[in-house]
Amino acid sequence: MCGIVGYIGDKNSVPVLISGLSSLEYRGYDSAGVAVLNDGTINIRKTKGKVENLSALLLEHPVSGKLGIGHTRWATHGAPSDTNAHPHFSNDEKIAVVHNGIIENYQELKDELEAEGFKFSSETDTETVAHLVDFYYKENNDLLEAVRKTLERIEGSYALGVICTDYPDTLVAARKESPLIVGLGEGENFIASDIPAILNYTNKAYILDDRELALVKKDEIKLYDINGNEIQKEVFTYNWNVEAAQKSGYEHFMLKEIYEQPKVVKDNLAKRFTDDGKHIVLDGIALGKKELKGINQIYIVACGTAYYAGLIGKYLIERLVGIPVNSDVASEFRYKEPLIDEHTLVIVISQSGETADTHSALKLAKEKGSRVLAVVNAVGSSIARDADDVLYTLAGFEISVASTKAFSAQVTAMYLITLHIAQELGKISEKDFTEIKQALEKLPSQVNDILTKAVPAIRGFVNKYIGSKNVFYIGRGLDYVVSMEGSLKLKEIAYLHSEPYAAGELKHGPIALIESSTLVVGVCTQEALFDKTKSNLEEVKARGAKVLAIAMQGNKSIEEVADDVIYIPRTHWMLTSLLANIPQQLFAYYMAKDLGNDVDKPRNLAKSVTVE
Ligand code: F6R
Repeated sequence: MCGIVGYIGDKNSVPVLISGLSSLEYRGYDSAGVAVLNDGTINIRKTKGKVENLSALLLEHPVSGKLGIGHTRWATHGAPSDTNAHPHFSNDEKIAVVHNGIIENYQELKDELEAEGFKFSSETDTETVAHLVDFYYKENNDLLEAVRKTLERIEGSYALGVICTDYPDTLVAARKESPLIVGLGEGENFIASDIPAILNYTNKAYILDDRELALVKKDEIKLYDINGNEIQKEVFTYNWNVEAAQKSGYEHFMLKEIYEQPKVVKDNLAKRFTDDGKHIVLDGIALGKKELKGINQIYIVACGTAYYAGLIGKYLIERLVGIPVNSDVASEFRYKEPLIDEHTLVIVISQSGETADTHSALKLAKEKGSRVLAVVNAVGSSIARDADDVLYTLAGFEISVASTKAFSAQVTAMYLITLHIAQELGKISEKDFTEIKQALEKLPSQVNDILTKAVPAIRGFVNKYIGSKNVFYIGRGLDYVVSMEGSLKLKEIAYLHSEPYAAGELKHGPIALIESSTLVVGVCTQEALFDKTKSNLEEVKARGAKVLAIAMQGNKSIEEVADDVIYIPRTHWMLTSLLANIPQQLFAYYMAKDLGNDVDKPRNLAKSVTVE
């Protein structure tokens, strides 16, 4: 991990590589580098730290050339350092490689290569690729064939860009389980791990599938399978524009994305009902009465924030439809021999559509004969392409590492899926359907309402609670689930130790941790559970905790136990989570900002987790 960009054309590749790497910065990384070919020599410049450090290095030690590859690295094997940064050279400096993914058998390959006399200078798994390509290249000086043979030897995941001094007009790329696209320009072509890296130049690309290679020249692209057979692919056109990847006056992408949520929710609801308003329309999903009747359980699988959106779905589907719904984080699901079969509907959720664990979970579910419905944001992503049905979440680019608008879009999707299944299976009355539909339609303006009114109060709380070292988020039912998301956001960007707990479970242990410096965020928007959670808040208050509550308008009695309250507009019980999460996002955002953290690129995190 994390970002790859490559260029071949008539321009100097360096500015293209630097602008590409800058557009991938949002994915999180710890070092950056470029390899540029000119006059039979490859020059590498690489450094620990940000792309701006790389730019400074390039000012001091300039390079130029019409063929180049660039990389931002998120350390997996070996610490972030100048040496471990990509690109990596072969010993004779004829071949340079950038790589996303993990070479699982790198130690074995390294031992073998060292026995052959190859010298390693870094601690990375990637360096084995540079030496292996070199090893096979020496057999018959065929770069594509050398890369192909290398792929046959390596286990694990890869997106690769390779250049060689003997091929001044060629870029070789390959992919397995780590995204890579080949961008089509005029008189120039590109490779990239994600479209923002090349969107300034083209929105057309071939999306490589697993174990495919590309031979890229400035006016020709050839694609091959792992056996070396040439293959044909359709060109994919991305509808995303460059503006979507800019901050548009906001201090951070995260804040911009938080404020985009009214529109995102609205877009996700638009055209999702038939003209008479009586049915849900889910384009691309062939899950009608007949298919659903054959389903006896649902499994929801995802990671992180997407998993919490899925948990909301679990609570809703079980309650409205009465089908058992299991849920798992994808990294557990994929290794647990899940009890699923052709009568299971597996719903996977992913913003990026490239999360390695979620993608593997999808493949496992398909192997076991289950139908897989993917709820995905990134169009054309691996998960979207491999699922049986796809519901796109229409959130647009999400640049900030911390997911906000994608979560709201996923939750909206779960609302729609729940209603669809309930209706197809005759589990919801027309009256209830209409009531929920009307409540759904109010959500965009209610989100807007919170965004307009809540900020001064939230900034006040942040000021008051900025010294907190331990934060509990508690709630019951749907409030518990959304508190998990609130807690995750605070950990991710404010770096505060925070734990979500089912409010009723607190007294079975964790209440021992409550002291006067503890902050407890109590989510109490479920009116049926309001009194219960309020009592739990009373218990922590009695032990000295400071209580910040999120409640529905009208439930003023919460003020008896809370030090501060944020009210959300009144809505149907099913829909409170989406609204309750907005103040949680703002709280985490302002806390992180006031603590001086890098809000959009929190430490140690990557936007799209394409390794296990
Ligand atoms: C949290 C966050 C992560 C992602 C998780 C899954 O803010 O961004 O927890 O939600 O890595 O990513 P996707 O949705 O791309 O599969």
